[in-house]
Amino acid sequence: MTQRIRKAVFPVAGLGTRFLPATKTVPKEMLPIIDKPLIQYAVDEAVEAGCDTLIFVTNRYKHAVADYFDKAYELEQKLERAGKLEQLELVRNVLPSHVRAVFVTQAEALGLGHAVLCAKPIIGNEPFAVLLPDDLIWNRGPGALSQMADAAEASGASQIAVQDVPREQTGSYGIVATEAFNGREGRISAIVEKPEPDVAPSNLAVVGRYILSPRIFDLLERTTPGAGGEIQLTDGIASLLADDPVHAYRFRGTRFDCGTHIGLIEATIRYALDHEKLSDAAQQLMQNALKELGVTELE
Ligand code: G1P
Repeated sequence: MTQRIRKAVFPVAGLGTRFLPATKTVPKEMLPIIDKPLIQYAVDEAVEAGCDTLIFVTNRYKHAVADYFDKAYELEQKLERAGKLEQLELVRNVLPSHVRAVFVTQAEALGLGHAVLCAKPIIGNEPFAVLLPDDLIWNRGPGALSQMADAAEASGASQIAVQDVPREQTGSYGIVATEAFNGREGRISAIVEKPEPDVAPSNLAVVGRYILSPRIFDLLERTTPGAGGEIQLTDGIASLLADDPVHAYRFRGTRFDCGTHIGLIEATIRYALDHEKLSDAAQQLMQNALKELGVTELE
């Protein structure tokens, strides 16, 4: 796989029940960190890595994602007439002009592996990326996917983003066993979905960024339901290990699990503190809030 990736898959068909009632009408991928929805952060990361074809695997309730990436003629006209050019640029740049969006429906929620398989007709026979927008990765330098795309091009191996997690959390992740790392990459020898801590092969967890060989599709077609009764991407990757090199990649950056309340809060705080215009005010109000709570405790 010495080819540069051009296509990225975004599975966005989940129900987002953790964020009810907000997600009753707003898909969880549309929840914002400051002023951008989660999906936009993932899209920006894929475009930065060189992708020009973005495939959104949605369900029939997720019009909001398609609407968001559609051209907003009326809004653009209004902003133009009002001379709000900065905002106009923001709205237009949701998708740069050289990038196209393709929407594929996943009729039934059969699992992440099945969602990725739905993109097969559009990907064809080339390496591609998968990004899970819940996993937001903050980095001052190149984005995580860009780092991985470079590694995939150089090594010819599929790449799976990983990070260490506390042992008691292995049941929430795909967990890998690897050979010795060479720099940021280590060849994966085993991968298992959501093992209990006592049977987990390590505490090295899969984060939602993948660069995969198209051979995964044939394997996913033969993958039977696994953890949680779902067709797991992890199980497809486990079959791929026998045919192809698959590397775990320790990316540079901080990952926020925006599929949880605390992760979403943490990400908001981080982006606010790192924000050109909001940083000072955000720092001040956090200090004030802590002080006020401290005072309350003393009373
Ligand atoms: C999915 C994958 C899992 C991975 C995780 C990363 O699980 O199945 O292997 O570790 O994303 O966020 P989910 O969080 O969708 O249950």
